[in-house]
Amino acid sequence: MSTRQQYKPFDLEGHVVIVTGGAAGIGRVYCERLAQVGALVVVADLDANAAAHCAQEIVDAGGHALGLGCDVSSSQAVTRMVAAAHTRFGRIDGLVNNAALMSTLPRGPWNEIDESDWDRVMQVNTKGLYLCCKEVVPHMVRQGRGKIVNISSNRVFDGTPNRLHYSTSKAGVIGFTRSLAREVGGDQICVNAITPGFTASDTQLASSDVAHIRKMEEINQRKAIPRTQTPEDLVGTLLFLLSPASDYISGQTINVDGGFVMH
Ligand SMILES: NC(=O)c1ccc[n+]([C@@H]2O[C@H](COP(=O)([O-])OP(=O)(O)OC[C@H]3O[C@@H](n4cnc5c(N)ncnc54)[C@H](O)[C@@H]3O)[C@@H](O)[C@H]2O)c1
Repeated sequence: MSTRQQYKPFDLEGHVVIVTGGAAGIGRVYCERLAQVGALVVVADLDANAAAHCAQEIVDAGGHALGLGCDVSSSQAVTRMVAAAHTRFGRIDGLVNNAALMSTLPRGPWNEIDESDWDRVMQVNTKGLYLCCKEVVPHMVRQGRGKIVNISSNRVFDGTPNRLHYSTSKAGVIGFTRSLAREVGGDQICVNAITPGFTASDTQLASSDVAHIRKMEEINQRKAIPRTQTPEDLVGTLLFLLSPASDYISGQTINVDGGFVMH
């Protein structure tokens, strides 16, 4: 074998990847990095203007992207979004279920959560995954392969208090990931989850008061890698799970939090 033969197990050149909640926060960093490695990115977000803006910036930088407004909790909106993505790029190789209600949720005691807030969090953070997968998987089945990456949270392992509805929804993401992996694995579709720790995304920082940031800095000292997590820290794992390098990994949850929780 010649060492000059090309071997590119992490290659995402030309892969079409939908990132929900891709217009802001961590999702936006995912979109930018995916475009930089040659993927064709669909930025799908509740905020249609922000999605269009993010996609335009990627295109202006020489990448390929399509920005679409989509509420992942609405089956009609998800159907339209996936159809538009497929019409534009002709295939769908990856789905990153990143959209969630998180930074906009108040932190507070578990028994003060409004019932309507509880329901809305479940609609977006768990039902949203289901609706997106239901629309995307038939395309992947036809193509003979596909990659789904669901974004959960290390709260599930840590039992972080406050935002109990959010924690519960993110535990649901792991159960969803495991069972769906078995249902679609025969079609060469991998379904995995990532559990980020507290990540200093622009939106997370904007919604955190000084006391909370200080508490997070204390938590940094209990990590194997004692510093604040940034969106960039999640990118490598995401690219790996979308790439052919992870073709025999499914139903797994990879914890990316600098070694705070040892999962
Ligand atoms: N930032 C953190 O500390 C952290 C930690 C663990 C897990 N996570 C997870 O990572 C992901 C991204 O986090 P983030 O900090 O960027 O969150 P964020 O709240 O800042 O951003 C979420 C994105 O989702 C979009 N969105 C919200 N509701 C939507 C809907 N119904 N349909 C479509 N899009 C919708 C928002 O417009 C936004 O662009 C989320 O799933 C979050 O739960 C974040």
